[in-house]
Amino acid sequence: MSTTPTRPVSEADVHGPRTFTCGALRPEHIGREVVLKGWVDTRRDLGGVIFVDLRDRYGLTQVVFMQETNAAAFAKADGLRSEFVISVRGVVDSRAPETVNPKLGTGRVEVRVTDLLILNPSEPVPFPISAHEEKRQNTAEETRLKYRYLDLRRPELQQNLVLRSKLYQATRRYFDTQDFVEIETPVLMKSTPEGARDYLVPSRVHPGRFYALPQSPQTYKQICMVAGLDRYFQIVKCFRDEDLRADRQPEFTQIDVEMTFATEEAIYGLIEGLMAAIYREVKGVEIPVPFPRMSYDEAVTRFGSDKPDLRFGLEIRDLSSVFHESGFRVFDQVTAQGGAVVAIVVPGEGDRGRGAMDRLDKEVVRKRIGAGGLVYFKLPSDGSETYSSVKSDVLPTAVVDRAIEACGASKGDLVLLLAGPRPKVHLQMGTLRLVMAEELGLIPQGADGPWEFLWVTEFPLVEYDEDEKRWVAMHHPFTSPREADLAAMFDDPGAVRARAYDLVLNGSEIGGGSIRIHRAEIQRQMFNLLGIEPDEAQRRFGFLLDAFKFGAPPHGGIALGLDRIAMILAGASSLRDVIAFPKTQSAVEPMVQSPDEVDARQLKELHIALALPPEKA
Ligand code: AMO
Repeated sequence: MSTTPTRPVSEADVHGPRTFTCGALRPEHIGREVVLKGWVDTRRDLGGVIFVDLRDRYGLTQVVFMQETNAAAFAKADGLRSEFVISVRGVVDSRAPETVNPKLGTGRVEVRVTDLLILNPSEPVPFPISAHEEKRQNTAEETRLKYRYLDLRRPELQQNLVLRSKLYQATRRYFDTQDFVEIETPVLMKSTPEGARDYLVPSRVHPGRFYALPQSPQTYKQICMVAGLDRYFQIVKCFRDEDLRADRQPEFTQIDVEMTFATEEAIYGLIEGLMAAIYREVKGVEIPVPFPRMSYDEAVTRFGSDKPDLRFGLEIRDLSSVFHESGFRVFDQVTAQGGAVVAIVVPGEGDRGRGAMDRLDKEVVRKRIGAGGLVYFKLPSDGSETYSSVKSDVLPTAVVDRAIEACGASKGDLVLLLAGPRPKVHLQMGTLRLVMAEELGLIPQGADGPWEFLWVTEFPLVEYDEDEKRWVAMHHPFTSPREADLAAMFDDPGAVRARAYDLVLNGSEIGGGSIRIHRAEIQRQMFNLLGIEPDEAQRRFGFLLDAFKFGAPPHGGIALGLDRIAMILAGASSLRDVIAFPKTQSAVEPMVQSPDEVDARQLKELHIALALPPEKA
């Protein structure tokens, strides 16, 4: 092997500390000698003059190398490439009027370099990182995540992380002023039923036993209430092995809250105060409180969703009475069986072509939404005759006219109808409503609002799982039924309302919580309803049932999805843009390449043998 030492390419940093960041210089600094350090964002050689945009977390500053006045620095600058880390010493000067960049804080000045140090060169980067929008290209997310340290140099991602940091600080400040105690709960714990699969961690000291990573600290925070800690909060990582989407990560962060003697009103007031503080501190915006409220039933019937987006209309109309015994067999059957015919009126789409309507029916309604089919009426903008997708010998014109009148459609509108069992047909229409809103550009993008908050209340306690043929908790098994509905837990579980609430912002569920069961007897009844046998209940949650025997106070709380709030505040379209090191859709972290295989020795220590399917073995 060659022993020739490689010559160090970087230089000693004889400039000393930087005197300003790359976002700081203004005309008032003209004439000052400064030292700046940062990354080469762009380099332009105009023959005799080289311009470099120097970048750091704070901004960009144009630095100039002139052959005429400083040949040595100029010659060195010739070798600069994107992402070299450099230090420059120079003098602040004004820019010629035609080169002023009004988009940059530093855009009226530049630094005339007297000395350049290359602190570290960079290999050619796998994708452009520039702060200049026009220089960026669409890079596959997998590549961006693999080189996350480069990806995170992009100003918008850095701004998102700074915003997220402000969100933590605003949250902590708020809860501190409200006399809450921040308490850390274990990460190696026992399964909590939040509805997803657990991530498991094998125990080496107890062969065959596993910790579960918390899907939430739900049981611990309730124990804190039994312990008399009164007001608990925690910014906490939660882990759920579930199907991922743009707004779901396998590990995510909650702002977790619990209060003794809590009422719904106390929780609403507390969280409205928190959101107002966050908006004030992070965005400098005053949001109106209190937030509006809507029952779960109303949300589903009017918007087809338990998290309605109130930034646009397209409200769902129930036309069942119009179509009941109307002579149109398909709708007659549905209404006779207690189902519903529901409609939305889409303004300005009354002239849609046949092809577009067929695609909507086939691709969206049948394939994506899984509904039986779409019926529609078009009211052309020129006032000509209404077109019905169902011929008049099957669906009489008089019924169509009555339906149009009932849903308030007029010239130029498109009426979309679905029929089916409740509440399924409402939920299907809710999806179609979102698809249409998206297609028509009715959903505001970006980070400047509007901000439509909504409390969704009066959730059902349980829902029936057709696949598993059993009742499952709509929120979680610790949620209290309404006192008035206690008796119905035995006779008509589906009718029992829970003391549960969700906080919705712009159609996204940003939080959920409830007033809890605090009496062992009702908790046992709830487990019974969910088909959790007493033995199993004792094994899984015995500690909580035991705790309830020793003077457990009434209590309640909520958890907010911090990542989702950050995403909305930042105007991002994916949680991955507000998490420093997120996982991909397939739960992989491409930079460190987790999950990974482990040594045979480690498995042996854990007494674990792999039984892989043949294609993975
Ligand atoms: P819940 O399961 O509703 O309630 O979670 C609370 C909030 O956390 C966010 N959230 C997620 N964010 C990103 N990725 C995920 N996979 C994910 N899952 C949930 C949502 C959600 O509203 N223990 C209860 C709270 C309580 O009752 O106090 C709980 O965890 O914004």
